[in-house]
Amino acid sequence: MSDTIKTRTDGHVGIVTLNRPKVLNALSYELMDALIEALERFDGDEDIHVIVLTGNERAFAAGADIGNMAEASFLDMYNDNNLARWLRIKQVRTPIIAAVSGFCLGGGCELAMLCDMIVASESAQFGQPEIKIGVIPGAGGTQRLTRAIGKHRAMEMILTGRFMGAQEAYEAGLVTRVVSKEQFLEEAMRLAHEIATRPPVAVKLAKEAVLKAHDLSLSDGLEYERKLFYSLFATEDQKEGMKAFLEKRDPKFKGK
Ligand code: CAA
Repeated sequence: MSDTIKTRTDGHVGIVTLNRPKVLNALSYELMDALIEALERFDGDEDIHVIVLTGNERAFAAGADIGNMAEASFLDMYNDNNLARWLRIKQVRTPIIAAVSGFCLGGGCELAMLCDMIVASESAQFGQPEIKIGVIPGAGGTQRLTRAIGKHRAMEMILTGRFMGAQEAYEAGLVTRVVSKEQFLEEAMRLAHEIATRPPVAVKLAKEAVLKAHDLSLSDGLEYERKLFYSLFATEDQKEGMKAFLEKRDPKFKGK
């Protein structure tokens, strides 16, 4: 078992903490393998309804581990195709909330953007500084940052490597909410517990439908959404949710 991450649970919430504080949680190959495995394990656990991914107060993650790559050749990188493994995180159906404080750079920013919501501490700094070390983002930065904050702002950040503070990131649409550095994890957990009370199958299908908005045309996306909506009428939680509303009581969801 790798010590590059730590995992724990709190009710229906699974928490993964990146744990290489001495190198600002640089995302080594070992850490990424452990992280992907932990996320998949939580995703396969019916009792886990939401995942929170966090680092520490100084750093969420300062990027891919530069030491892993500095001497690599094109063929080393191409043949190993390490970054393609990150796509497995995209397959995780359970919502993932990134709780971000401090540096959230390069692959760290790309990892946060792979999550479904970002709760940031006021000290969070987001950036894609790869250009300063002779490369470009390689795990989604040019695509996801552009979709999150628009072409012109993303272009400036990626071409200069400038960092963006939490408030600016919030105003640009990258971040769900900003709270104090004492509260960022607590707030992410509060949000996670709130979502965990919702019917879990509907939550997963809602996540799937929102993510399709990035991949499909509007008419295909609307059709996709409609089919998922109809499919929820096969669940007991739909019957319970609507019945409870009509009976003016709180629903009791079972995840069925
Ligand atoms: N990889 C490996 N080690 C890293 C690292 C990284 N991405 N980021 C920080 N570290 C290490 C430093 O080497 C240093 O280690 P030592 O104490 O052994 O020297 C330790 O973390 C602390 O870092 P600093 O002393 O540099 O701390 P600072 O406060 O002066 O600066 C920083 C902080 C601005 C974040 C600076 O560390 C930095 O610029 N880091 C690199 C950021 C970066 O370029 N990220 C992109 C990586 S490439 C990538 O992610 C590709 C991709 O798309 C997948």
